[in-house]
Amino acid sequence: MVRCDIITLFPDMIRSVLGTSILRRAQEEGQLDVRVVDLRDYTSDRHRTVDDVPYGGGAGMLLKVEPIARALDALRADGEPRRWVLTSPRGRRFSHELASEWSRDSRRLTFLCGHYEGIDDRIGATAAWEEVSIGDYVITGGELAALVMVDATARLVPGVLGDPSSVQEESFVDSLLEYPQYTRPAEFRGLRVPEVLLSGHHAAIRAWRRDQALRETLRRRPDLFGRAEVTEAERRHIDAENSLSG
Ligand code: ADE
Repeated sequence: MVRCDIITLFPDMIRSVLGTSILRRAQEEGQLDVRVVDLRDYTSDRHRTVDDVPYGGGAGMLLKVEPIARALDALRADGEPRRWVLTSPRGRRFSHELASEWSRDSRRLTFLCGHYEGIDDRIGATAAWEEVSIGDYVITGGELAALVMVDATARLVPGVLGDPSSVQEESFVDSLLEYPQYTRPAEFRGLRVPEVLLSGHHAAIRAWRRDQALRETLRRRPDLFGRAEVTEAERRHIDAENSLSG
């Protein structure tokens, strides 16, 4: 079970994604519990102001610290242990490893979606935030980043995906990319499905898939390949082929 709170300026954006497909079913079946916290509920003025101009001048608006501090006070009232996540392009890069760690963490993942041109730096002092980024690019707000992280985390919870082996065999588990897959027809416009997959020979199929995963990873993501657990024999086999073809 993954528990989270998402503090956001755009609650409908979060709800629309969480109300769809696998994430919706995961909530209905009790594997995922998400509460959406509307930051504007914690403002104190008539206009429900959440942002303001930067001291010292400069372009753009910053998220104000008080509504966030109030929202956190309200969340803390339940006394639940939490892990505080601030979505930010300057954060640590999100990864399968972090999703896997979060999927096994019993604490509530508490996301604050960053916005506008930035945030008042004192927000950093309101909780023990871990800043996390989804990649080296800037998006318009932290909502999509938080949703990416919740999705990648929730799908690793046992039962969220129908077949647990689909998690075990996919890309990034073991630092390897997934092997190629095919479905019917066996031949399409002259392209045949590799014969071994039609053979019914399970050991041969496993060996072929392993070999393909190793090759694809080495070719597309040599950085990942360096981290994968590869036996000495597998390494020699791949090196030999590379020196033949290269
Ligand atoms: N907010 C804006 N860009 C982001 C990114 N790359 N990751 C997380 N949050 C963000």
